[in-house]
Amino acid sequence: MSRIPKETVDQIIQQADIVEVVGDFVTLKKKGQNMWAPCPFHHEKSPSFSVSPAKGIYKCFGCGKAGNSVQFIMDVEGIGYVEALRYLARKYAIEVEEEISPELNQAQSARESQYIISDFARNYFQDILLNHEQGKSIGLPYFKDRGLSLPTIQKFELGYSLESWDGLTAKALAQGFTLEFLESTGLTIVKEDKKYDRFRARVMFPIHNLSGRVVGFGGRTLKSNDKTPKYVNSPESEIYHKSDVLYGLYQAKQAIRSQDLCYLVEGYLDVLSLSQGGIDNVVASSGTSLTEGQIKLIGRYTKNITVLYDGDPAGIKASLRGIDLILEGGLNVMVVLFPDKEDPDSYIRKVGDTAFKTYIDANAKDFISFKTELLSQEAEHNPVKKAEAIREIITSIAKIPDSIKRAVFLQRCSVIFGIEEQVLLTEYNKLMKQERQKPVAPAFPDSAPAPGLTPQPEDKVAADDAIMLHHEREIMRLLLNYSAHQLPEGLPFVPYLLEQLEDVEFKIPIHIRFLNLFQEEVKQAPLIPPDFFINYPDSEIRQEAIQLLTDKFELSENWETHQIFVPRETDMLQFAADTAVLRLKWRNIQQMIRDNMETMQQVKDPAAIDQHLVIHGTLKKYEKEIAVQLGVVVAR
Ligand code: UTP
Ligand code: MN
Repeated sequence: MSRIPKETVDQIIQQADIVEVVGDFVTLKKKGQNMWAPCPFHHEKSPSFSVSPAKGIYKCFGCGKAGNSVQFIMDVEGIGYVEALRYLARKYAIEVEEEISPELNQAQSARESQYIISDFARNYFQDILLNHEQGKSIGLPYFKDRGLSLPTIQKFELGYSLESWDGLTAKALAQGFTLEFLESTGLTIVKEDKKYDRFRARVMFPIHNLSGRVVGFGGRTLKSNDKTPKYVNSPESEIYHKSDVLYGLYQAKQAIRSQDLCYLVEGYLDVLSLSQGGIDNVVASSGTSLTEGQIKLIGRYTKNITVLYDGDPAGIKASLRGIDLILEGGLNVMVVLFPDKEDPDSYIRKVGDTAFKTYIDANAKDFISFKTELLSQEAEHNPVKKAEAIREIITSIAKIPDSIKRAVFLQRCSVIFGIEEQVLLTEYNKLMKQERQKPVAPAFPDSAPAPGLTPQPEDKVAADDAIMLHHEREIMRLLLNYSAHQLPEGLPFVPYLLEQLEDVEFKIPIHIRFLNLFQEEVKQAPLIPPDFFINYPDSEIRQEAIQLLTDKFELSENWETHQIFVPRETDMLQFAADTAVLRLKWRNIQQMIRDNMETMQQVKDPAAIDQHLVIHGTLKKYEKEIAVQLGVVVAR
């Protein structure tokens, strides 16, 4: 991997404001000193993901993910440290002079290589469309014909692929790209000794991820009634997971957020036409049927989705499936169907922007009305059909996670069908019971100790280990939180605490690493800046530091909101440190006593037993001393 110079890394970290960086992906709301949002890393309805502008970090109290701006980009984009730095450098227009060495460059991660080659392909297809003979005479006229303007073409970075077997492949290879990544992104198809372009003689729709990088393509043929498929799409790759991508979301996300509504359509051209008509908050599930991941993605920006699908049977079927998925995701859903043979693209072109908007406003139905109308024609005079219809609707209602919303919809359903609510409730409870019998994945609570150290009630040793871990952590937490602090006599805190720890043994490897780092650092300067470890190059250290720095985050928030007076930890730092050290020492002694007893039980030689008895006595003496000190400290 190429290296980014240290000064540039520092500059990037300085400029990458956590609120701005995170704000590109979720909608943050201010509450107290922090900002909150539903977590982008796990599925949830109420926000437990917090951003602390003061500390420059994020933390989710649900799933435990935490870090600084760089870590956030690494997590959300699934890329490495250097790639995340490059992302931030691009965002803040910071020039990165890379120290490239050929071997290191080789080792650049597969994902980054796939991004780079996709970017190259996007530029290539765009260039063909706008500057090449074939693009200008075939591709551009096609788009014009479909009513797309140049600004729209540019906004969505549309392109054209040559009618040629290896236009892109040959060019890419000539420029030094390797076949490996041409193939893994699906741009080139390799069969035995032949290699050829996947996309040939098609108009090209690049598919972007949330940060605007190209992850794949859709290509539409211009030939009608041909043997060739209408659309060819990029295959899944390390950078393109179809179930977690929505076409147009990158271009639409700001509008979705500001209008608090997302229109969901089926095709690329629906997105393009609506966007050109001034409806910017539109995305398509393109190529796949709607997935839970895609709904979660929309859920980061709004809770409201309006589905705009064809009025044909396929469109209706897709709508029904979409409705249940959206409800299950905890989002609100409205449905608009278009007249027969029309899709959003054809309809907006037929009636114009204004009439189109009027139409969707007038025809947006909530899912109960939608399902009722769909089923009512047959249901009206047929009690069996009616019962079926009602069950259908209750099934959807049962999917809504919010109980108040469920109650409201049940009530509405009762009014529409003229059926007593109690009858609906009984039916509803039956369904819920079936739902509940499905196995549920167990949650992994944030506060749980690291795997392998989970205390088990029956397992005393494991429980003791957990307590020890807890005490070790507490010391680490103090070191990190007060690394730049001085005790009242002007004594730097870190050297003071390190001295107390001289004869204490730590068990957890990451803690031992921290101690060594602290020891190294205080040799240079006794006061260590608070962000030193947050921005530390080693990700294990960084992660752990952030966890430790946010350990009491939640608690102090409660203190604030409940206005409970709590003495500030800084006022009693020495006390806190002394107590923590003694507690850890106490635990260590306990363990030594236990270990000694165990060995004693196994040895047969009386002399050896005597020796262990002496050790036991000494340990017991220490234990008492520490107990006394702890008592003194605690009572002070
Ligand atoms: P449509 O057939 O409705 O295409 O498929 P469209 O986008 O409206 O295109 P036009 O208006 O006919 O030119 C909807 C979406 O389904 C996917 C594409 O993403 C398309 O935009 N699709 C369709 C495929 O992936 N492959 C296909 O062969 C057809
Ligand atoms: Mn269409």
